Amino acid sequence: MKTFPEGFYWGAATASYQVEGGIEHCDWAEAARAGRVPPCDSACDHFNRFEADFDIAKSLGHTAHRFSLERARIEPTEGQYDHEVIAHYRQVLKALRARNIKPFVTIWHFTLPLWFSESGGFERQDSPEIFARYARFVVAELSDLCDHFSTMNEPNVFGSNGWLRGTWPPFKRFALTDLVSITNSGRQYEAKASRGIRPLMTYWQVMKNLAAAHNTAYEAIKHVSPETEISVVKHVIVFDANRNPINQLKAAVANYVWTKIFMNRVKQRIDSIGLNYYFYTQFGDTRQWKKTDMDWNFAPERIYDALMMLARYRKPLFVSEGGIADHDDSDRAEYITKQVAATWRAIQDGADVRGHLYWSLMDNYEWALGFEKKFGLVAVDYETKERYIRPSAYVYKEIIEKNAVLE
Ligand code: BGC
Repeated sequence: MKTFPEGFYWGAATASYQVEGGIEHCDWAEAARAGRVPPCDSACDHFNRFEADFDIAKSLGHTAHRFSLERARIEPTEGQYDHEVIAHYRQVLKALRARNIKPFVTIWHFTLPLWFSESGGFERQDSPEIFARYARFVVAELSDLCDHFSTMNEPNVFGSNGWLRGTWPPFKRFALTDLVSITNSGRQYEAKASRGIRPLMTYWQVMKNLAAAHNTAYEAIKHVSPETEISVVKHVIVFDANRNPINQLKAAVANYVWTKIFMNRVKQRIDSIGLNYYFYTQFGDTRQWKKTDMDWNFAPERIYDALMMLARYRKPLFVSEGGIADHDDSDRAEYITKQVAATWRAIQDGADVRGHLYWSLMDNYEWALGFEKKFGLVAVDYETKERYIRPSAYVYKEIIEKNAVLE
């Protein structure tokens, strides 16, 4: 029996655009109107059904829940905040607290208000200050109900899909990326590759602006709410290698580029780190991997490596996402069990992991792949909006109730 520390947080995560429905004034909605990504429309209608959804989370034993604020709703025009939307998110936080579920709020999860994306978004030199102003505002409005905020979700995924691979807004593509592209982020909706090295330089600048946005937001938030715990949610790909030294060099460079550059830029201004783990790959691998519905290697146990990579920053960690697209729920229970057991092993080896949030509470809009991928503990019928709890959710519940995993 692998028992977790007392008070370990257990739950699941969602993100506003993927579940709420009815978000029109953001870059993704605009891209859908232009036919470049699938429409999201009413999604899971979680905006109106959050109480019932949190009842389900509660019934599944969850003690924590991560969700994100929709910036396009909160700041629909520059510097003008919608107080009704803030009142809504206050209700969401109260609904979690009433159920004794600890909220983890992500201030920004991928989608951008149109006024911001159309004026250059994170390519803008002043984007760190613009972001920090918004971050400070929301924390000032909500920190009496929540003590943990993540500034941003997966800056590297946002940057590389938007500016290198061109699969996500603003669809800028760097031709050479095709040679090293390893994950599945959607169809290539005629994103034309620009010539030369320029797109790479823009990507580089966007990544620098994102780190600066986090750092500036950290300072701004601490100014209004010094007690608030601030994290960044980092997507970690575990790049591994066989014994070949060239492959080992490749893996070291890849881990440096994907994870360490960004973390080194923000490490002075984080109170904790959220890990999103989905992906393990090995240079020189000859194994035939079982695949998930995303066509990703089925490697839940390698979350261990990702946690140990982040443990080097000597901050409290939490698994902010980790999960599997599995339409018939045949592999999810095994995936969760192995992921949790590997998290336990990382704790034994010194990683200060405080919680585990499965991605996702319910099926949702998987970005450029639309609604076809099923990550949820809970299935959603998008026509009727009915929810159906999947069997694997009860396996997770058992782990939560025991605060331990048998493996
Ligand atoms: C993102 C989620 C996404 C999930 C599965 C993460 O990259 O934060 O928004 O749905 O992975 O692909």
